[in-house]
Amino acid sequence: MKKILITGGAGFIGSHTAVSLVQSGFEPVILDNFSNSDHSVIGSLERILETKIKWYEADCLDRDSVREIFSENEFAGVIHFAASKAVGESVANPLKYYRNNVESLLILLDAMAEYGVKDLVFSSSCTVYGQPEILPVSESTPRQEAESPYGNTKKICEDILRDYIKSGAKSRIVALRYFNPIGAHPSSEIGELPKGVPANLVPFITQTAAGIRQQLTVFGDDYDTPDGTCVRDYIHVLDLADAHVKSIQYLFKQQDTFYDVFNVGTGNGNTVLEVIKAFEKVSGKKLNYRIGPRREGDVVKTWANTDKIKNLLGWTPKYSLEDSMRDAWNWQVKLGSAGK
Ligand SMILES: NC(=O)c1ccc[n+]([C@@H]2O[C@H](COP(=O)([O-])OP(=O)(O)OC[C@H]3O[C@@H](n4cnc5c(N)ncnc54)[C@H](O)[C@@H]3O)[C@@H](O)[C@H]2O)c1
Repeated sequence: MKKILITGGAGFIGSHTAVSLVQSGFEPVILDNFSNSDHSVIGSLERILETKIKWYEADCLDRDSVREIFSENEFAGVIHFAASKAVGESVANPLKYYRNNVESLLILLDAMAEYGVKDLVFSSSCTVYGQPEILPVSESTPRQEAESPYGNTKKICEDILRDYIKSGAKSRIVALRYFNPIGAHPSSEIGELPKGVPANLVPFITQTAAGIRQQLTVFGDDYDTPDGTCVRDYIHVLDLADAHVKSIQYLFKQQDTFYDVFNVGTGNGNTVLEVIKAFEKVSGKKLNYRIGPRREGDVVKTWANTDKIKNLLGWTPKYSLEDSMRDAWNWQVKLGSAGK
């Protein structure tokens, strides 16, 4: 079985990707410092998969630990999720973000070169597009000035990868630009575990419905969108996980020295009110929300053109918005009032 290192593998997207990897015949090895995840995720994965999962508690910034893990395992590829991801915190503490997100990538690339591991899938984000002028947004759309240090780390990491491959490095790399990952594993064993007040819409909805938050504020309903609220492309985390497996398989078939970027979204945009309606439908609960003023810096509407990933990777999303909301809600019910 080919071993794939998953940095940040105990986190939201990494844990679901571990499931998809096992189900596709790979052996995931998790490296996580558990700064934004819980050790219980490992046991949850083992229950879903009915197999032991190899994992290391280590920090991607600790070069010696990373080298040691590479020396103990023969990896066929790496998926690099580990990063800090809170936009607001990145504004307050930019150096933490540049260090954790950019330096960790450099350390990883060095270790991969030293141990002859060629293939890397990198977690990027649709945030690199800002507010696109033409929708749906395709990979050839020029990236915009980042709105936050977090967003800038994704742009910088993409540039590092592009320049590295331009230099002739014998590596094969894909950067996936995620749109808005939501949902959870249908078993309710793993899901999103936001620490403190969630910055994303869906955990805020489910926590409000669970009574952890009092009320959801919808930021603005007078935008130029079907119902005036902001539009995003919400993708089920298991579909996103599958895109990583397809990316790894695609990289194995490429020539040495390869870099490309792919959007990962459903290709559909949904408004905030549509997401709330989907939640109310699948949960049978009425959500307590109010319309508030617009929030500065919000992208009004964005959704993905997914032609490239469909054509080149043979990937298509399987889950609907309602599937995602049902799985997110079941996960919240399982968590109960945790995450207060
Ligand atoms: N969730 C989203 O909405 C979204 C959107 C676009 C891109 N991304 C990117 O996808 C990746 C995964 O996101 P997620 O939502 O699963 O986040 P997450 O916080 O749930 O997972 C990240 C994991 O990385 C670990 N980690 C962080 N720094 C580390 C370090 N230095 N060493 C070892 N482990 C470390 C954390 O403990 C956590 O388990 C991140 O790179 C994020 O920027 C996420």
